[in-house]
Amino acid sequence: MRESTPASVLNAIGNTPLVELKKIVPAHSASVLVKLEYFSPTGSYKDRMALAMIEEAEKRGALRPGMTVVEYTGGSTGTSLAFVCAVKGYRFRVVSSDAFAKEKLQTMKVFGADLILVPSEGGKITPGLIPRLIERAREISAAQPSYFTDQFRNRDVLTGFEGLGKELMEQTEGRISGFCGGVGTAGMLMGVARVLRRLQPSPKIVALEPASSPVISGGVAGTHHIEGIGSGFVPPMLDKSLYDEARGIDEGEARAMAHRLASEEGIFAGTSTGMNVVGALGLAREMGSGHTVITVAVDTGLKYLAGDLYGGEE
Ligand SMILES: Cc1ncc(COP(=O)(O)O)c(C=O)c1O
Repeated sequence: MRESTPASVLNAIGNTPLVELKKIVPAHSASVLVKLEYFSPTGSYKDRMALAMIEEAEKRGALRPGMTVVEYTGGSTGTSLAFVCAVKGYRFRVVSSDAFAKEKLQTMKVFGADLILVPSEGGKITPGLIPRLIERAREISAAQPSYFTDQFRNRDVLTGFEGLGKELMEQTEGRISGFCGGVGTAGMLMGVARVLRRLQPSPKIVALEPASSPVISGGVAGTHHIEGIGSGFVPPMLDKSLYDEARGIDEGEARAMAHRLASEEGIFAGTSTGMNVVGALGLAREMGSGHTVITVAVDTGLKYLAGDLYGGEE
């Protein structure tokens, strides 16, 4: 049926394809399906949570026309929020750092965001970096009438990612043995897990983090360079009852996998996607044929062309 009014670009968020890896899954493993979230308008699954954070706040009356939205970001949430704020007409002030992809910082500005940069230690995500960004954003939001979206503490994020879980249920008719994903705010993993836990028996749900910063699996924070995950602390939204295990993934393997995904499977994505697929292949080996393991291609590789993942700085 034709719609009477043309759809908003915000309606282009979600309903992403689910595809099967055809070449890199070894024999006798479970099949591995990947949800291609880079089909969303800003090329990242963060569009889902940005829309939910804004629209849920609007419904409660906490965010009203004329107000400024404030957030801290590694660049992906900021890009998605900048996009949603542009469409809805809110001013957006965002705190980020030179540790994150230039493409993301630039994109936020193109969407009209007011970008405030906090310097990193040599471009690395050290344990103190994200807390410094949070502090700065809190100061900015306290100084003016604003709505602080505060992604690590905002449970509207879960509402946004439940949509991803529901799509997976429809696309697989509930045939899911395992699901894994990297943890930043934990919003994606927890939002999806809230839906998948309704299956009987529940799929095995695994939280992934950089092996060099095993905060969830080992209680120790370290340095790494996988953007968007491994914030250096256990995120408040991570709920132990919604996952079965946490695993550290080697960053070098994650990077190599991002290259293999592009050159062998045609899936051009970022470093955290490489990590997700390394995790999924591990689960698929353990579960064996006849099972289905699912993970997520978080964002497009186009966001990483100038950085060290695809050799732009060589
Ligand atoms: C590239 C990338 N991968 C993974 C994640 C982790 O997602 P979540 O915050 O939902 O745990 C993020 C979050 O910022 C991200 O930007």
